[in-house]
Amino acid sequence: MCGIVGFTGSEQCSEFLVQALKRLEYRGYDSAGIAVQSGGKIKTVKAKGKIAEGLQEKLKEEGVPGGSCGIGHTRWATHGEPSDVNSHPIGNGRISIVHNGIIENYREIKKFLIGHGYGFESETDTETVVKLLDYYYSSDPVDAISKAIRDIEGAYALGIIFRDFPDKIFAVRKESPLIVGQGKGENFIASDVTAILDRTREYYILEHEEIAEISPNKIIFRDSHGFPITKQLKIADWDISTAEKGGYEHFMLKEIHEQPAAVRNTLSPRVKNGLPSFEECGLTDEKLKGYKHIFIIGCGSAMHAGMVGKYVIEELSRSPVIVDIASEFRYRNPLLSKDDLCVIISQSGETADTKAALTLANEIGADTLALVNVVGSSIAREAKMVMYTNAGPEISVCSTKAYAVQTAFMYLLAFRVALARGAITEEKCRELTGELMCIPQLIEKCLCDKEQYQFVASKLINAQSLMYIGRGLDYALSMEGSLKLKEISYIHSESYAAGELKHGTISLIEEGMPVIAVATQSRLADKTVSNVKEVKSRGAVVVVICKENFEFDNTIADYKLTLPPISDLLMPMVAIVPMQLTAYYTAVLLGRDVDMPRNLAKSVTVE
Ligand code: AGP
Ligand code: GLU
Repeated sequence: MCGIVGFTGSEQCSEFLVQALKRLEYRGYDSAGIAVQSGGKIKTVKAKGKIAEGLQEKLKEEGVPGGSCGIGHTRWATHGEPSDVNSHPIGNGRISIVHNGIIENYREIKKFLIGHGYGFESETDTETVVKLLDYYYSSDPVDAISKAIRDIEGAYALGIIFRDFPDKIFAVRKESPLIVGQGKGENFIASDVTAILDRTREYYILEHEEIAEISPNKIIFRDSHGFPITKQLKIADWDISTAEKGGYEHFMLKEIHEQPAAVRNTLSPRVKNGLPSFEECGLTDEKLKGYKHIFIIGCGSAMHAGMVGKYVIEELSRSPVIVDIASEFRYRNPLLSKDDLCVIISQSGETADTKAALTLANEIGADTLALVNVVGSSIAREAKMVMYTNAGPEISVCSTKAYAVQTAFMYLLAFRVALARGAITEEKCRELTGELMCIPQLIEKCLCDKEQYQFVASKLINAQSLMYIGRGLDYALSMEGSLKLKEISYIHSESYAAGELKHGTISLIEEGMPVIAVATQSRLADKTVSNVKEVKSRGAVVVVICKENFEFDNTIADYKLTLPPISDLLMPMVAIVPMQLTAYYTAVLLGRDVDMPRNLAKSVTVE
């Protein structure tokens, strides 16, 4: 969460900083600001709220700082409410910083600094870093940074400017992500490469506690003690247009439509001779056969993809799979052993709880496989094995194509585990893989039913609350459908195992309450229909999501969303599309901030 940018070059940089921050808006934030080296002074403009209403308005009032070296920030408050004074950059005249993360021991540092005569204006943990740098600084910024990071505990990505060094940016990080971009006569820092793609594709990933000293024509990297190091230059292959809306009204809609391509990109490189293959990361059949248990860990939608994985792996290979929410797993003292495989799922690769779960699994000695979208992210680098989901940047806070590719990968994994363990024949595995490869076309088909989804959305907008029900794989899917809707429309919704309703929750059903029943699993659909009858007779308005050819008493469904035929096992891959689009159109009709729903961040890098 939060965005950091920085520029040093020969042109006026304020406008670039603001535009680069806008490209990081998708990360979620509550305030924004810039600080620029301007005629021997550091000039700062910052404001609570969105960039367009807060920072840009203030720039009009106070004037745009002139100067060609500066830093910018979008803040997602952790310490102190969102306010102008708590916004970053935070400085004291001679040093100014932007910070992403949390300084865990800020109280002790603050006490120490107050003891040395320092005063504090903001409520942030970040201000302690500014003052600590000031305490250590006499004339050598790297020396001050190197000393300060020895004292601070927690997560940080820091962009720092010193008044005495008017064309330099200094950067350091631990846990929170930060890259250094290399241009021609101009260099950059950014939380991720999408912020600077219009200027350069060349960048370096800053590793834990490495310090960068960035001038317009030179970048020097040092280790935490200040000794120079060399680093490998990376070239971003993401196109700027893939990081923009490409004609769609929202990133979410664009990303929903990118799902066929994204799923193809995930599957194709991993299918060899018609069978799933994980050679690229060394996940051999021998390993897959040997693991005692498979754990799948993630947060939110990533965990929901894991739920689908559990059902499919257990169904095909008859071996137990444990799915856990990362924030629970990490404190559970989990029953994981070195004989197990722990699959860590994360789009961003930076989610704090998921990362902590991975660290724990590595400590226990389990084999760890990260399934990640963002190349070079922390989780990708820390896991023993990594597979990238190749979905391209997902900008909307609401995960859609990331969920689709994670789920697609779960199928590949399930097929290969079952084959490796002799639970299915090679022929069966080939058949299942072939069917999975057809999924992108079926998703395309579902995407054409826009009017149906808009119509159902128009029936949901007045609901106070609604319920998603399903059994088996349909239940796993309901969890994701319900999350999509509540996350972006702010309508309360719950997902419930259909058979559990009568054990308490059915008392919530009242006249006019929408219930979305997912009934794609032939073996269970009749049972779900019975549950639908129970809610219908208590006044619910029912939307049934089912296969085109599913025959049932039509009078129980007020609305029906149908899906192209495919085997039951693969249904979640297509059935999610009506749920995503219904949630999307509901949020649009309600005028919500679809891509940046309130209180949420794309990448949750703090606990
Ligand atoms: C989904 O729409 C959410 N925004 C959220 O649940 C997300 O999937 C979760 O925060 C995990 O993120 P990650 O995949 O980047 O780890
Ligand atoms: N902890 C800092 C603050 O609350 C930084 C938060 C962020 O990552 O944006 O100001």
